Amino acid sequence: MKIIKTANYDEMSRKAANIIAAQMILKPNSVLGLATGSSPVGTYKELIKKNQAGDIDFSDITTVNLDEYRGLPRDNDQSYYYFMNDNLFNHVNIDKSRTHVPNGMVADAEKECGDYEALIKELGGVDLQLLGLGHNGHIGFNEPSAEFDKVTHCVDLQESTIEANKRFFASIDDVPRQAYTMGIGTIMAAKKILVVVSGADKAEIVKKAFTGPVTPNVPASILQMHPDVTVVCDAEAYKMIEA
Ligand code: GLP
Repeated sequence: MKIIKTANYDEMSRKAANIIAAQMILKPNSVLGLATGSSPVGTYKELIKKNQAGDIDFSDITTVNLDEYRGLPRDNDQSYYYFMNDNLFNHVNIDKSRTHVPNGMVADAEKECGDYEALIKELGGVDLQLLGLGHNGHIGFNEPSAEFDKVTHCVDLQESTIEANKRFFASIDDVPRQAYTMGIGTIMAAKKILVVVSGADKAEIVKKAFTGPVTPNVPASILQMHPDVTVVCDAEAYKMIEA
């Protein structure tokens, strides 16, 4: 695992975007695994700039997103489908039919999750997976638990996650209680993994996840076992590693 420390969020975003851009240049038909949340927004802004400058081309790129709230319509501005269109896909030359987000409106969780897992396999797997890090160490929506979940599945969100995500909804009661997420096994099967983390509120979990014991209680800790992980971390989030 390589941890790159940056001065701030903007530098983190530029460095992460450069890593993704390099992947796209080296393999123009890459399958990119994408993430939502505040952490990757700056990275997406940088990718849009690079696309508009003609430095990267999305026309042969395929994307698969990590997760989606269960029961939230795709046109709801808090759905991850909406987020991806709003923050990236609407602004680059991507073929939208090649962008994939689990469909939270399919009520049959087993079917939707099984189909999504099969889709990733059919695509030949993920070349580069971008991840954020939840305060409790979750990746995608893989919450701390007694064991690592292998494949795409339906999860009950933990109170701390509902609390953290309520800022985006009118009230806490509007935050969905369940989500569909790639499993830890799905994420670990990606050829390369890129994690973006920023802010003092993530310092404790950064230290635990990336230097502590590997345990399903801290789902991101499994990334220590992956052969090709780069964490781009701003100084605030990095500070407990140095302490
Ligand atoms: C969300 C998402 C994760 C994301 C995490 C951190 O709940 N499901 O994919 O990485 O929480 O979000 P943020 O980057 O806003 O801190």
